[in-house]
Amino acid sequence: MKGIIIGGGIIGLSLARELNKNGYDVTVIELLRVGRGASWTAGGMLAPQAEGLEPGTFLDFCIESREMYETFVKTLERETDIDVGYWKCGILCPAFSEEEEKELKKRIQVYSELGLTGKWIDREALEGRYRSLGEEIRGGALFPDDAQVDNRLLMTALEKYARSRGIQLLEFTEASEIIEENGKFEAVRTSKGIVEGDFCVIAAGAWSEHFIKCHVFPIKGEMAAIDISPQDIDRVIFGSKAYLIPRKDYKRLVIGATEEMVGFKDGNTVKGILQLFNGLKDTLPNLINNTIQETWFGYRPATPDLLPVLGKTEIENLYIATGHYRNGILLAPITARVMFDLIDKGIENHYIKEFSLNRFKANKNE
Ligand code: GLY
Repeated sequence: MKGIIIGGGIIGLSLARELNKNGYDVTVIELLRVGRGASWTAGGMLAPQAEGLEPGTFLDFCIESREMYETFVKTLERETDIDVGYWKCGILCPAFSEEEEKELKKRIQVYSELGLTGKWIDREALEGRYRSLGEEIRGGALFPDDAQVDNRLLMTALEKYARSRGIQLLEFTEASEIIEENGKFEAVRTSKGIVEGDFCVIAAGAWSEHFIKCHVFPIKGEMAAIDISPQDIDRVIFGSKAYLIPRKDYKRLVIGATEEMVGFKDGNTVKGILQLFNGLKDTLPNLINNTIQETWFGYRPATPDLLPVLGKTEIENLYIATGHYRNGILLAPITARVMFDLIDKGIENHYIKEFSLNRFKANKNE
């Protein structure tokens, strides 16, 4: 069976790997180099609790994927000999006001009723841990099971897997049209010719709307990175002003991220970078003396209800897996699994049903 995946990001390459492991012949069509789009620009937090997701199916989906992560990365590391910087460092969410403190304490309580771990750490204990602490910080909620991965190393490993295991990568290739006959997928027209396959999966992130009406749009995020040392920070700190992600090797602190609905407008802005560095200053003030390494930006694939779009489309054998918004890196293992089960075994589990494209139709009585 030959499968085509449009989009060589974390979702496309994770699914390509799953299909390849199970004997499928897979071609990935990517406009740029694989792995260098939104997946490269992300922060790599595996953070359903720090993100404050409400109880429900989406939180369950995220928690299940977080639980799959260690095995996912360890297997990939064995396959590729690349350490992808997975670190179950826990994430601290600082409170900058009384209201945030109340909200975070409530969140700890709600999560504990679901069996998810979290605990409050007061300011005094935090002062003993950090060389400087923003003066507004009243304490913080620690979610020890949230984690991180170095998303650039992860994409490098997935690319290496693909190149070494016979997944065909059609890079710098524009997919321009889905060709169907009698409602059934036939092929993809590309800038390098027609690519035929038994099925196709659209995993083109914020660009997916280009191929099918799926209600996906970009939410831009600006990011920065600075030098750090191990004395500066011991784990991810995710506050309302910014998040700070120290990489496992302490060669870099990633600072994120703005959120703007400006379409695909490119470039970093003074306003965006100021927001990030003010967030850094208000959290760990002494780090403003550290050297800037890089600034960049990316586009999260969002949907109107901020949930992913997974499953079948109206065209037979044309599938979709996108719309992961702030959680694409986290959701790669579970998305690859549920999409593989759908394609290979026809299993439409409750996640696929909940995140189906049909929900947009139902809402509009189409
Ligand atoms: N996952 C963090 C962000 O989207 O900024």
